[in-house]
Amino acid sequence: MTLRIVVLPGDGIGPEVTDEAVRVLEWFVRRRAVPLAMERRLFGAAAWAEQRTTMPDATWDAIMAADALLFGATGSLDQKHIPPEERRKGSLLRMRKALDVFANLRPVKAQPALAEASPYKARTIAGADLVFVRELTAGVYFGTPRGIQTLPDGTRWGLNTHAYTEAEIARVARFAFTLARTRRNHVTSVDKANVMEAGALWREVVTAVHAREFADVALEHMLADNCALQLGRAPTRFDVIVTDNLFGDILSDCAGAINGSLGMLPSAALSDPDPAGRRRALYEPIHGSAPDIAGMGVANPLGAILSAAMLLRWTAKAPAEADRLEAAVGSALASGARTADIAVHGEPVLTTRAMTDAVLAALDAS
Ligand code: NAI
Ligand code: MG
Repeated sequence: MTLRIVVLPGDGIGPEVTDEAVRVLEWFVRRRAVPLAMERRLFGAAAWAEQRTTMPDATWDAIMAADALLFGATGSLDQKHIPPEERRKGSLLRMRKALDVFANLRPVKAQPALAEASPYKARTIAGADLVFVRELTAGVYFGTPRGIQTLPDGTRWGLNTHAYTEAEIARVARFAFTLARTRRNHVTSVDKANVMEAGALWREVVTAVHAREFADVALEHMLADNCALQLGRAPTRFDVIVTDNLFGDILSDCAGAINGSLGMLPSAALSDPDPAGRRRALYEPIHGSAPDIAGMGVANPLGAILSAAMLLRWTAKAPAEADRLEAAVGSALASGARTADIAVHGEPVLTTRAMTDAVLAALDAS
């Protein structure tokens, strides 16, 4: 059965890196390694400019019917002119919620080719191999009440609500423990149980799920601020890190310093499987629209390309192809291919397209 992949390039460098991920997936499709049919759809600022809506009906219908989404980035200065209700309509948060893709996998793996010490750039930290499981459809990004309100005395306040139900915590904990069994069998649960009520419940529920169903997996609890420190000084100590929406957002960006660049980190957002075993899925690099380099053709496409590898693994259920693509990325880097974000002083710098060509050449040679 052909899998329907809806491609949502979005804003800034989103289209630049997504085009490259599509080129790489087409390499596999041409070899009949995976049955994918890819279709590009407009949303957000680009859709607003053309159709005066951020979410055309055809795009929403395609999103809801897709086997997976391949997403670029969202966020553009143009959006300031779009009415707030339209911005929400075309937002990534709305898509995540509607698809119920609550488990956000963000693997962070050292690239051996970038491991040499350099006085110029932060390089990969040798041996690091961890994955964040960030809760993605609840917490402070979704809690109500929210808004900027004016109190009777005229004081304005900005209000968000950080809330988790037991069920929301339990299902992401189960996802993390199940994933750990396929890796090094170790879970670090990150919260602020000392000061936040939802954090205290988080710790209680994770502990209970562990005791009941996953006693064979090693579990430790860590406060989020300490986790930020440990990611910097000892990232190799982590295997699976499960945490809430906000801490997962922030801590996984910190991890950009572990592997060398934010531009190389992929992600997958997954739902629980339906009775037929199919998960809803949204794949995207963790970086944003990078307005400072948009349109210049210099963005690192490897985050998007490694997201395509996650699509091969989780949606196409083609682990050998996913391994082959990840190995090709490693080979391209080993051969010296560098975009500006990972080049050290004096190294030749490739464009977005040329970096992908290096990955395709490595695939041809593999
Ligand atoms: P950003 O991730 O877009 O950029 C941060 C820094 O990393 C910039 O210096 C950028 O040039 C660099 N960078 C990012 N991706 C890169 C790549 N592939 N290659 C080379 N360098 C890269 O984050 P920022 O600047 O905080 O946000 C910009 C916009 O993106 C905002 O509108 C924000 O809301 C949005 N955003 C969207 C996300 C998404 O679509 N999921 C995630 C994060 C931010
Ligand atoms: Mg982020």
